[in-house]
This record gives sequence, C-alpha cells and structure tokens, in this order.
Amino acid sequence: MSGDAIVRLEAIGKDYGAGAAALTVLRSVDLTIGRGEFVGIVGASGSGKTTMMNILGCLDRPTRGRYVLAGEDVSTLDDDRLSDVRNRSIGFVFQSFQLIPELTVRENVELPLGYVRGARITRSKRHARAVELLTSVGLGHRLTHRPAQLSGGECQRVAVARALANEPALILADEPTGNLDTKSGEDVMQLLFGLHAAGRTIVMVTHNPEIAARLPRVVEMRDGEVLRDGAPHGARESASVGANDEGRAGARSDAHEVRRASGTTGEAR
Ligand SMILES: Nc1ncnc2c1ncn2[C@@H]1O[C@H](COP(=O)(O)OP(=O)(O)OP(=O)(O)O)[C@@H](O)[C@H]1O
Ligand SMILES: [Mg+2]
Repeated sequence: MSGDAIVRLEAIGKDYGAGAAALTVLRSVDLTIGRGEFVGIVGASGSGKTTMMNILGCLDRPTRGRYVLAGEDVSTLDDDRLSDVRNRSIGFVFQSFQLIPELTVRENVELPLGYVRGARITRSKRHARAVELLTSVGLGHRLTHRPAQLSGGECQRVAVARALANEPALILADEPTGNLDTKSGEDVMQLLFGLHAAGRTIVMVTHNPEIAARLPRVVEMRDGEVLRDGAPHGARESASVGANDEGRAGARSDAHEVRRASGTTGEAR
C-alpha cells in the first residue's frame, strides 16, 4: 500500500518568520495519501490547511521534515526544480478560480500545457487537448468566452479542466465550492467525484460539513497538527461515493483512525 503512496509527509513543520518572531504554523504533520484517494482537509480557520496545501502543491517548502511526492523527495528542491515538479505533477483548483481574465476559456486551459519542460506540445495539440477537456466539463460551447462572461460555476469548471491539462498525479483543491451557490457547488463536486471514480488522486479543503461527510477520508487539522484522520464524522454508509472507496477505506481503516489528543504528541516545539 505505502509503495503506491503518491504523497508522504513525514514530520512536516512550517514556521513563518525567524528567531523570536517565528510563528509555527505546522508542528509535525505525518500524512500518507495513496494513489486514487479522495481526501478532504477540514479544520478551523488558521489551523494550517492552506499552508499544508501549499507544501503539497510545491508552492512552498517546509521548514522541517520530508515530503516525498510520487517517490521523489521534493522537500529540498530549489525553486526551478520545484516549479518543474509543480507544473508536471500538480493540478490546482482555487476558491477564487484564478483564471486569467484577458485569455479565453480555451487559452486558460491551454496555458499549463506550455509550461512543461521538454514537453514541446504543438499549438494544434494544445488546442485539441483544451477543447477535449472543456467538453468533458460541459463547456465545449464556451471556448471563446472570457472568464468575466461566465458564471462562477462555469469558471470553476474551467479551472478543473485547466487542473487536468498536464495529467497531474495529484489534484489539489482549496475550497473549490467556497464561492459558489449550492447548485454550482454540487456540479463541481460531481465533477470531482467523477474524476475520483476515474482513478484521480484529489486533496480538497472544505469548510462544508455536508461535503466532508460525503468523502471517503477526512483529515482534520487543529493548531498545525492532524487531529483526526479517517472516515468523516456522520458519514452515511451508502453515501454517494463509489464501491471502490469502500474497498480502499476498509484496507486502510486501521492506519487511518489516528487520533491524537492535542498537545500530547510528544514532539519538540
Ligand atoms: N505568509 C505568512 N506569513 C505569516 N503567517 C502566515 C502566513 N501564511 C499563513 N500564516 C498564518 O498561518 C496560520 C495558518 O494559516 P492557513 O492559511 O494555513 O490557515 P487555514 O487553515 O487555511 O485557514 P482558513 O480556513 O481561514 O483558510 C494563520 O494563523 C496565518 O495567519
Ligand atoms: Mg485556507
């Protein structure tokens, strides 16, 4: 099982600032995510969720500890190599969509295809790939629109298509439904559930307990530590997650019910 881990965080710590003014935001986070998992990250505001996602996404480096992504230790890579890994292996979906307003929908999705070193994807292939992805999220009829001409839900579906452009090993979504109405949020969730069913690995921060309850695995953060890791509270046995998840969850349930009383982890700091 652990041989097929896509993410391995080992005693990850993150401080902002240095010396007496240093603020410890992640204390000692251990987290293993297998290929094909859909993991929710929950926890109070300020508990370190985004900080951890930034490390997972190679947008930031940990102060301490080791991060192994798809078998490669990325904790100490320099900026260039880190951005290579990021472009190649990670797809991001943000709460605020982060589309480029001057570009059309299709150009937004094509953009990451130009950033993979050594990939040399021709223009016509980039176009074709963007059209295929946008069609798959139900936006094949909006190719030449600009983000401002789309609804929030449509923008987020463009962002999902963009996240998939480079066939990333890992999709990271930080509150992807946070800015959406219920119906559009559900559409985006259905897209993400569909990607998971197709074998994608997804890590998603959510503040929405109803959404968290539908995920196969939820990691709860508190004060920069993992407080709980396992099936969500209040999960329904037959929630709309596929049969695959039950098999996977069953195989791992022992390892995942890691409950740590806060403040008793015994780690320094
Ligand atoms: N660049 C930074 N410099 C200093 N402190 C920071 C920085 N980024 C985050 N922090 C602090 O780290 C803590 C954790 O922030 P983080 O953004 O990870 O929380 P979060 O769990 O994502 O919260 P939210 O649910 O509100 O998004 C907060 O106290 C925040 O103020
Ligand atoms: Mg956050």
